[in-house]
Order: sequence, then structure tokens, then C-alpha cells
Amino acid sequence: MGFRWTSLNDMAKLATLILFIVIGTALGAVPRKPRGVGAAKNLPGHPDPFILGGDIVEGRKYPGQVSIRLNGDHNCGGSILNQDYVLTAAHCSYRHSIIQLTVLSGTNNLKNGGTLHEVTEIHVHEDYNRADSWHNDVSVLKVEPPFEFAAGGVTAPVNLPVQDQDTPIGANATVIGWGRLSEGGEFPDDLYEVTIQIWDHDECNAAYQPDEHVYPEQICANTAEGNKGSCNGDSGGPLFVNNQVVGLVSWARGCDEKGYPTVYTRVSSYRSWIDHMANP
Ligand SMILES: *[C@@H]1O[C@H](CO)[C@@H](O)[C@H](O)[C@H]1NC(C)=O
Repeated sequence: MGFRWTSLNDMAKLATLILFIVIGTALGAVPRKPRGVGAAKNLPGHPDPFILGGDIVEGRKYPGQVSIRLNGDHNCGGSILNQDYVLTAAHCSYRHSIIQLTVLSGTNNLKNGGTLHEVTEIHVHEDYNRADSWHNDVSVLKVEPPFEFAAGGVTAPVNLPVQDQDTPIGANATVIGWGRLSEGGEFPDDLYEVTIQIWDHDECNAAYQPDEHVYPEQICANTAEGNKGSCNGDSGGPLFVNNQVVGLVSWARGCDEKGYPTVYTRVSSYRSWIDHMANP
């Protein structure tokens, strides 16, 4: 419909719409409540989930995977976009400075091999909102030195879906990461992978109401039993379907909780933004 501010008639329509929203909110029709910064730790959902029920990755099966390190320690996963940039979640780089972050590429094992890169630029999505279900949880980092893509090499860029590409419900999806193997459990040095399924968006949103909202720019995945990768992977790391990164690990309720899929940033909603930010 589109409101034009020059038209009195349209302004009247807008006023009516606002009135409806206000009344709707008062009646509880709009379940989201605004939350202050700092309230996030009290929410049932939390960022930084981990791989459950997965397997150690053999060989350089995922040459686009990097470890994003905070003050020298593994903190998040990320994906190589091109020679200069990696893709990760906003909550992995938000409010951190470039001197706190480094990127380890070219290894499955955090204690063995690989190349360490400095971070020279941090681009957090301008509408990232950690107080509102981590909406727009996407960021792009520039690294130095650049990645080297020799033929058959240990590092390579990932494939991304096109803007707004849909991922079918029920599709097999693989999430990878160095996250904990169980809630409160050990952090492994080896990279793990687990296969789960893309969840129905409305069902996922319904599961999280009224505390959280699952936006169209988010995509959910889980297993029906909720016992495998239900808190999949490391934050910021990739969810692959057909060799494309369709999601970035964002948040979940607990771990291993049946009926509460992990929520991922839907990469295809941000393809244009990513291309714009990661233009070398
Ligand atoms: C997912 O993978 C399993 C095991 O390989 C296979 O049986 C099933 O058909 C796959 N599902 C889809 C939707 O491709």
C-alpha cells in the first residue's frame, strides 16, 4: 500500500494503523515485548550453541571453515567469502574491536596447523538487535593477510544461495563447528559435523512464542527427536544445504531440547548485503 507523507488521507490511514497496533499490543495480539539491553541473559533462548551427537570431520571437507578467536581463544565459527572476507554472526563481533579478534584458517584442529589472520575491518549489520531475538545476526570481517586459494588447497571460499532463495522444509542440512559436545561439556579441538533437518518456520516461531520471535530472515533446523545437533554448531558457523551456506548458527533454547530447533540467520535474506560489504 505505501503511505505518502504528503497526503492527508494517507496520514489518516497511517494514524488508524498505528492505533490498531497500539490496541493490538495492549491486548497481547503482538507478543513481542521490547527489552532493554542486558536482559538477554534472562531469555530462554541463548546464543553460542554447540554440536551434539555429531562426528569428527575427516580431511579438508570444509575448506571454507574458520575459527574466529576472541583475545586468542576460539569463540565462533565463520565462513570464507573470498580472499579478504569472512562471514559470521553479528553476536560474534558486536562490540569487539579489531585488536581482540583473529581468524584461524586452513585447519580442522584448533591446536594444530592453519594460518592466523588479523582482522582489519568489522561490519556488523546495521539492524542487528540482540534484544529482539538476535534479529539480523550477521557480520562480515576483513582479514590480513588474505586467504590463499591454491588448487586443491586447504582453504577455499564457500558457496552462498542467491538473494531470497528458499530452502525446502525437511531438507537435510549439515552444521559444523568446534563448539561444546554437550551442554556445559568439553570444547573439542577437532571440528565436528552433524546432519539435521530444516524445520517448518511457523512451527519454529510458535515454539518460541511469546518470549522470542523467529523472523522471516531466520531459518530453523533440528532433528525430530531433538537429540542431535539441536543446539548445533558454533555461533556464526555455517549450516549447509546442497553445499551452500543457507544459515549461520545464531541461537536456541537450551540444548538437546525436543521441540526447540536452533535458529539460524537466513543467509539468502542477506546475500545483497553480504556482497556489498565483502567487496574486496
Ligand atoms: C536425508 O538423508 C537421509 C539419509 O541419507 C535420506 O534417507 C533422506 O531421504 C534425506 N532426505 C531428504 C529430504 O533428502
